Amino acid sequence: MFGRGIDRMSRYYILPRRLVSVCSLCNGGRNVTTNAVNADTSIPRSFQDVPGPTGIYQWPFIGLRLQLKPFTRFKITRLDQLMMHYKNQYGPICKARMGKRWMVFLFEPSVIETAFRNEGRYPQRPSIMLLEHYFKGQSCPSVSILQGSEWMEMRRPAQKTLKRPQNLSKFIPHLSEVADDFVDKFKENNIMKDLPLPCLEYSTEGAGTLCFGLRLGCINKGGDVTAAPILEHVRGFFGILGKSLYSVPWYLWYDTPSYRQFVEHITFMRRIADGHLQRAKEELKNRTFDNDEANLMMDMINTPGMTPEMISNYLVDLFIAGLDSTAMALTFLFYQLARNPDKQEKLFVEVCEQVPPSGPISEDVLNRLPYLKACLKESFRLVFPVSIGSTRVLQKDIQLLGYTIPKGVSNIGCLI
Ligand code: HEM
Repeated sequence: MFGRGIDRMSRYYILPRRLVSVCSLCNGGRNVTTNAVNADTSIPRSFQDVPGPTGIYQWPFIGLRLQLKPFTRFKITRLDQLMMHYKNQYGPICKARMGKRWMVFLFEPSVIETAFRNEGRYPQRPSIMLLEHYFKGQSCPSVSILQGSEWMEMRRPAQKTLKRPQNLSKFIPHLSEVADDFVDKFKENNIMKDLPLPCLEYSTEGAGTLCFGLRLGCINKGGDVTAAPILEHVRGFFGILGKSLYSVPWYLWYDTPSYRQFVEHITFMRRIADGHLQRAKEELKNRTFDNDEANLMMDMINTPGMTPEMISNYLVDLFIAGLDSTAMALTFLFYQLARNPDKQEKLFVEVCEQVPPSGPISEDVLNRLPYLKACLKESFRLVFPVSIGSTRVLQKDIQLLGYTIPKGVSNIGCLI
């Protein structure tokens, strides 16, 4: 579906003529054959030969900006369409500037596999510059910007808790209550307008339940009063983070108004985590933590090697990381089900047969919903909810489709 949209779109570029001549992005696909990857992978080629947008589109920061609205019809919120365009235009591999970095986009599963098999002991994930800048000034960094052994060390204590499925299954009844509230709200209106927003309300409420053991009041009123404006902060945070990916980083030189707002948003989330951590520590002075309790924070307090600052930072990391990804996963699942009513019906029958009419869902019930799992996986296959997927910075030179991709370049595995 997106592919057809892109074909239609390429007729409507509004770039001035002077730019058109240097831009393989805007030629309506005329030079597909000259730019597309050469199938003969036995001829060694350099990084320079990797196809992709040329000329001013290779300039740091500005290069990507010029490929987006108002210069073209690609919106920043629809990077998937720009990537689909890359795929159609350049073939299974292409390079483009993203911010100051070069990115190599890969569109073939076997090539993506080769890239990931070469990620080394500690996969180096390119961090977002805005987050890097923010956490540089903090005494305890975030897992999102750490690399190498430091990254592994920061994750290790929390992973002990999070990696055991039985540790997570105890949260299912609590998350089931959040899902019930989500469905009740839907029943009230019988229609959900602007689907990503209610899905974000749901994922924020779910993440609050998991990470802070708190109901935040995002779906319906009655959550923790101190957390009331959380959704505004979440939306503001993602808005600024998203824009930072294609804007000149003025915040590196001075505190821009938007950077100050960003700090306000993240500070709010950290305040929730810190407040709850204090309360949890006070509570644990008077009682012992039972391993069966669904309380991630107390579990972490009891985990050797976790300092209060690490716990607070890690939970904020988890909270933030789960919001947009879960909301988008749910949005696309609903979208695919709406487009395939026969599959929706089949899923409905499975749910009616397996889920008890009232009360929370258990792990056992979830295990009896194979078609639901299949629908989710199929939705991931059709449109992966994280638009640029998993990315890696190469730690050594590697060969991909006959091209030498140098160390330091970010690779993107992109399946569209
Ligand atoms: C369906 C929903 C989700 C999708 C599609 C998704 C997708 C992803 C992807 C693609 C990555 C990058 C992995 C890599 O580079 O190897 C990632 C990382 C991460 N996700 Fe998720 N995620 C989802 C839900 C969640 C939830 C609910 C949480 C937390 C409660 C979470 C926490 C994290 C964290 C902390 C990382 C960073 C790990 C690290 O760098 O150490 N995600 N996720």
